[in-house]
Amino acid sequence: MPLKSRITGTGSYTPETILDNSDLAKKIDTSDKWITARTGIRQRRVVKGSETNSDLCLKASENALQSAGIKAKELDLIIVATMSGDQPMPSTAAILQNKLGAKSAAAFDINAACSGFIYGLTVADNFVKSGSYKKVLLVGAEVNSKFLDWKDRATCVLFGDGAGAVVLEPTGGKKGILSTHIYSDGSMWDFICLPGGGSNHPPTSKTIRDRMHYIKMKGNETFKVAVRTLEKLVLDTLKVNNVKPSELAMLIPHQANMRIIAATAKRLKLPMSRVAVNLDKYGNTSAASIPIALDEVVREKRIKKDDYVMLEAFGSGLTWGSALIKWG
Ligand code: COA
Repeated sequence: MPLKSRITGTGSYTPETILDNSDLAKKIDTSDKWITARTGIRQRRVVKGSETNSDLCLKASENALQSAGIKAKELDLIIVATMSGDQPMPSTAAILQNKLGAKSAAAFDINAACSGFIYGLTVADNFVKSGSYKKVLLVGAEVNSKFLDWKDRATCVLFGDGAGAVVLEPTGGKKGILSTHIYSDGSMWDFICLPGGGSNHPPTSKTIRDRMHYIKMKGNETFKVAVRTLEKLVLDTLKVNNVKPSELAMLIPHQANMRIIAATAKRLKLPMSRVAVNLDKYGNTSAASIPIALDEVVREKRIKKDDYVMLEAFGSGLTWGSALIKWG
């Protein structure tokens, strides 16, 4: 039997501070009614004081390592999927490696925005399947609140902070990650972007004045592409694995918008009881949304051995991707 990778531990962490829709309605021209109806989001978590992305990573990772029953020093590789790392250089994964004391682990970040966890899973899965690494920690973590324009009601109501982590190890059996699929279309790069701070627009007083260091989004255009793309993606992923939609025990979608999640579930004819939803509590936590939701369904024992579990995401790039797992 060829090697596969298997998720042997999950963990998550979200900051304590809760910002609910009514808090936002006091600061900008919005309402709980609009946000709930258009997105499904009721509240989000935000970091406080000096709490950083790698701090969130550390707590989620410690939970995942504990659930896998392994020590940080046993790790061979750490990947952090993020678009809101501690600083542009070095990688947040390197900072996490130090905080964990994971001295034997190589460490790097992946940026595929909201699809980052699926991209990271694809890379981690391939390292494990090839026999290169035996114990890989993959974290999706975001501190989006530091990159939001709190005067732009079209974006600031959508995002939140948090982190989720998984440990991957090899297996020779039939269970584990069956397939991963990643895609991108850079022609729509400006649908969701953060234009300032890179080599194209290095930070100057003008880029700050022009509010270029914040997330910008063409929400409606993105919404339409997301719905269309995800419907095809989930059906294709099942087809490749010869699994029927009715056999799917749990869909764990990226948590951007309840209407997008519901449209995907409808296409699969899945009842919402078989769909993981937590955007009401956390908003869109970008690369962290899938591993946080996965950790929740594992801890709530909503998935069991041999279940088919699908993960799917869509985000800036544009990027999108999916994974089918036979749990256990
Ligand atoms: N409160 C109140 N009104 C708001 C608002 C807010 N927070 N944000 C926008 N509006 C207004 C707009 O100004 C617009 O008003 P107008 O008709 O007078 O111009 C109206 O609501 C409709 O705006 P629109 O952008 O067309 O709404 P929408 O139904 O598309 O919902 C999103 C907006 C962002 C919730 C939705 O488009 C979305 O979720 N997009 C996809 C996000 C996504 O998948 N991203 C990928 C992963 S990050």
